[in-house]
Amino acid sequence: MRKKVTVVGAGNVGATVAQRIAEKELGDVVLIARTKGLPQGKALDLQEAAPIERHDAKLVGANTYEASEGSDVVVVTAGAARKPGMSRDDLLAINAKTVRGVIEQVTPLSPDAILIVVTNPLDAMCHVALETSKFPRSRVVGMAGVLDAARLRSFIATELNVSVESTHAFVLGGHGDTMVPLPRYSTVAGIPITELIPKDRLDTLVKRTREGGAEIVSLLKTGSAYYAPASAVVEMVGSILKDKKKILPCAAYLQGEYGIQDLFLGVPVKLGKGGIEEIIEVTLTDEERSALEKSADAVRSLVEAMKKMEL
Ligand code: 2OP
Repeated sequence: MRKKVTVVGAGNVGATVAQRIAEKELGDVVLIARTKGLPQGKALDLQEAAPIERHDAKLVGANTYEASEGSDVVVVTAGAARKPGMSRDDLLAINAKTVRGVIEQVTPLSPDAILIVVTNPLDAMCHVALETSKFPRSRVVGMAGVLDAARLRSFIATELNVSVESTHAFVLGGHGDTMVPLPRYSTVAGIPITELIPKDRLDTLVKRTREGGAEIVSLLKTGSAYYAPASAVVEMVGSILKDKKKILPCAAYLQGEYGIQDLFLGVPVKLGKGGIEEIIEVTLTDEERSALEKSADAVRSLVEAMKKMEL
């Protein structure tokens, strides 16, 4: 049985996710967006590339949700992107409404799907998806840590002039300025980078990771990053659909893990066919723990702010 992935939002992130899923033959793709002709045009264009890219994935574009019925995974990218000078949090009210509308329409048709939320502000949008879908927490997961860790890995590889494949990076916390990259758990061929990169350089790489999204926004001027975000989503989709059980940093709804209650936050999870099959807890130093708590506070204040809004 072929797998089916619905991607909601046919902007740069959504379309690039669709492209990579098809090219990796992870499943058939339904691309949904409101603008007439946009998802249809992108899906058709991608389909016409198939003979050259040599894949047999089917791509369909639609403005409504019928074609998404029975999806195994639904990726939610719909929403406004950041403009220069805008924080992810400025997007809160606009995107909460959008995500709620998407979830209300998509989940009745795919009641067993795993939801991957990409829309910013990420952790808060995961709350909207969990509450609206009423899915178990194992089937609502946010994409952020995989992207943040990839950014740190690419900086480590450049710094040390080594293959990105030898790098591993560990990032906890919310997808925002308070995210918590953990150099102690980030390695090159198993060697902690704290032993390979001097502290001042490491601090620079960590800062650049935290500000990675904003760096791209300020360069592009008319939008935010999409190649690396799409790669991160597809890594998660692949782990779920192939039941790979990769350990990936993702936003998960914590219920006591890391001492945090009822909050989405980036932590390492095992991603398989059941979605989040396990939340991995690692020991943290006092400093790391307090950085994580600060990040949790930032996410909590967004969630509280959202509750007070008229959505
Ligand atoms: C980023 O970090 C858009 O949040 C996304 O690039």
